[in-house]
Amino acid sequence: MALNLMQLNDRQGVNHTLEEKLMAKSAIDKLFNPKSVAVVGASRHSGKIGHAVLYNLVYGGYRGKIYPINPNANEVLGLQCYPSVLKVPEEIDLAVITVPSVLVPQVMEEIGQKNISTSIVISSGFKEVGGEGAKLEREIVEIAKKYGIRFLGPNCFGVIDTWNSLNTTFSSQSPLKGHIAFISQSGALCVAILNQGLMEKIGFSKFINLGNKADIDEIDLMEYLADDPQTKVITLYLEDIRQGRKFVRTARKVVKKKPVLVIKAGRTEEGEKAVSSHTGSLAGMDVAYETAFKQSGVIRAYRIDELFDAAEAFANQPIPKSEKVAIITNGGGVGVLLTDAASLNGLKFARFSQKTIEELHKFLPPFASFRNPLDVTGNANEEVYFNAFKTIINDPNVDGVITASLPLQIMDERKLAHLIGEVATQVKKPVIGCFMGGEEVEEVEDILRKYNIPNYTEPERAVKAYAKLVRYKKILEELNMEENVVTFDVNRKGVAEIFKKLREENRTRLTEIEAKQVLENYGIIVPKYRVVKSLEEAVEAAEDIGYPVVLKIVSPDIIHKSDIGAVKINIIDEKKLRVAYQEIIRNVKKHAPKAVVHGISVQEMVPSGIEVIIGGIKDPQFGPLVMFGLGGIYVEIFRDVAFRVTPVSEREAEKMISEIRGYNIIRGVRGRTRGDINFIKETIMRVSQLLEDFKEISELDINPLTVHEKGGFAVDARMKIKY
Ligand code: ACO
Repeated sequence: MALNLMQLNDRQGVNHTLEEKLMAKSAIDKLFNPKSVAVVGASRHSGKIGHAVLYNLVYGGYRGKIYPINPNANEVLGLQCYPSVLKVPEEIDLAVITVPSVLVPQVMEEIGQKNISTSIVISSGFKEVGGEGAKLEREIVEIAKKYGIRFLGPNCFGVIDTWNSLNTTFSSQSPLKGHIAFISQSGALCVAILNQGLMEKIGFSKFINLGNKADIDEIDLMEYLADDPQTKVITLYLEDIRQGRKFVRTARKVVKKKPVLVIKAGRTEEGEKAVSSHTGSLAGMDVAYETAFKQSGVIRAYRIDELFDAAEAFANQPIPKSEKVAIITNGGGVGVLLTDAASLNGLKFARFSQKTIEELHKFLPPFASFRNPLDVTGNANEEVYFNAFKTIINDPNVDGVITASLPLQIMDERKLAHLIGEVATQVKKPVIGCFMGGEEVEEVEDILRKYNIPNYTEPERAVKAYAKLVRYKKILEELNMEENVVTFDVNRKGVAEIFKKLREENRTRLTEIEAKQVLENYGIIVPKYRVVKSLEEAVEAAEDIGYPVVLKIVSPDIIHKSDIGAVKINIIDEKKLRVAYQEIIRNVKKHAPKAVVHGISVQEMVPSGIEVIIGGIKDPQFGPLVMFGLGGIYVEIFRDVAFRVTPVSEREAEKMISEIRGYNIIRGVRGRTRGDINFIKETIMRVSQLLEDFKEISELDINPLTVHEKGGFAVDARMKIKY
């Protein structure tokens, strides 16, 4: 049975009624489009935050009604003051709270009684300080729930909507109007970006600080901004994501409408806890975020300048049809730097058509290069450069252009910027500038900006920004592909019984045999085995299974069986079996005398194959993740693995296999046998289904899963549950 991934995801998500969704949306809309705003704690004193917020509203150009609330004042900044929101005779859309934290619960009650749907709590002194603060935060969450109030914060800087001239923060300046929405978990970073943005003339549509995220979070805001006409790209600075699965579900939908760029800082506490499986140790602290971003089509940046470089490109330029770009420059060295960066960032050089080359020959000197990247040489003045630009951008093989220029005496760069701008606005292809040089470049950049051409004075920055446009194009193609999550016919009850027994025995770690039984119930083939309690039984079992066999101790207390000599392989006859059996018993008595022993397992010795690992881990925020990689000894050395948040679709499973560096080993190189890729794919999906069905599985390793030309076996397995 095949299920559509989005259907499946929606089924797992919280089921809000349409009415609830609409109400939530309109409450969030009031953060940005309120008809009236009350400032609770509007101080009379200019050094105080409440005063600054009121000042920004009054003098920032906001056209709605403003109500200062302060029981100790009659009038602030020339506006009549009210002792409480309850005393305001008219409706209020948004309340901004700037009173000390201990007063916030009472204020929140009044906001509820007044039927105000939306609030911003700027006040600090909540969860971020622990103890009493955390208690206060829970209190305001409860009050908000009781009245259905949606609120941003606490401990936040507020929001700025440049298109509505609404500034509810205590900033000293407002950002420029533009199309980038910025959501930040850090208030300090908001202030820094705001100032940096002004210096670099970056335009923003909305500026939002999440604060403690006690209610409204990045997911609510992404969902809202997806339909905001002024926002062309959503950028986020996040320190954590608390509802991982919902984030992935929502982001996948949002990214289909507009690009989402993220910087994720900080590491999760949970990730630092010791783990005993390979999968656990390879998962590390950041893997779940990295995986979730990749799966939801969110583009991750690692530096703030990288984030806004890309955001500017998205906010101003169209998405290219393909990765085929043309580079034009009047300086060879810059051309080389751009070329290197383009190759490293996955761009492809468009091949100029014959017609383009013939046209270029008409006005370029014979020593110019007529190939892509096109060097028009230092001989070119603005007319010649522009003619070349116009020729290549109109070549049907070219899907976008990076235009680089160095300030030379014979070149009027301002004029060139105008000429390029005129043409760039006519074509539906992205144009990214790399006009370099000192102070003069600022003037050129201003001209380019008028034509919506972002300029980067560093070749690598220009290429990276362009490459993200291409990346988004690919993400869109991927997200629009059909995702089928296959549901296999499995024995769920069988697994539930194994886990029930474990719980009864107060155990969390399964023996290898129990782990294999779980896998068998999910249709994953393991080598034939039998658990015996005596040597004679072992001899009998080996005869039934057929030599060669493997002997392994079965004990919940012995994890690393080989390390203490409790595994014997390649036993070819009864004589060897008797010796091996006794040796295992001796070794266990010596090295693990207190271990509870369930018996010894006699296992079929399967032929060697390609060894891979399939694992699972439960992330506190994102839930189960499946891992695939080269197994056996390679897993630790190369750490060549791929992760996915479950459920894993058929296409994702395929991608997991092909994206590891060792893929060629599996495909069979230099005469080696080709592994059964369909078998691996199916095993990944079966493990994904197991992890989805049993959320108590905290760690799982099938290592190695030997893969043959046809099929394979889960040769060894480890599993842990948490309850
Ligand atoms: N309703 C309305 N107003 C009231 C009430 C009430 N029930 N009770 C008192 N007020 C008035 C006060 O009289 C005062 O006005 P006044 O100065 O005219 O007398 C005003 O509210 C403010 O109250 P104060 O007690 O003076 O509080 P103060 O302004 O010192 O501090 C604040 C309040 C700013 C909320 C502070 O407690 C705080 O949390 N500061 C940190 C805020 C912060 O950093 N947030 C995170 C931002 S992110 C970033 O860091 C960039």
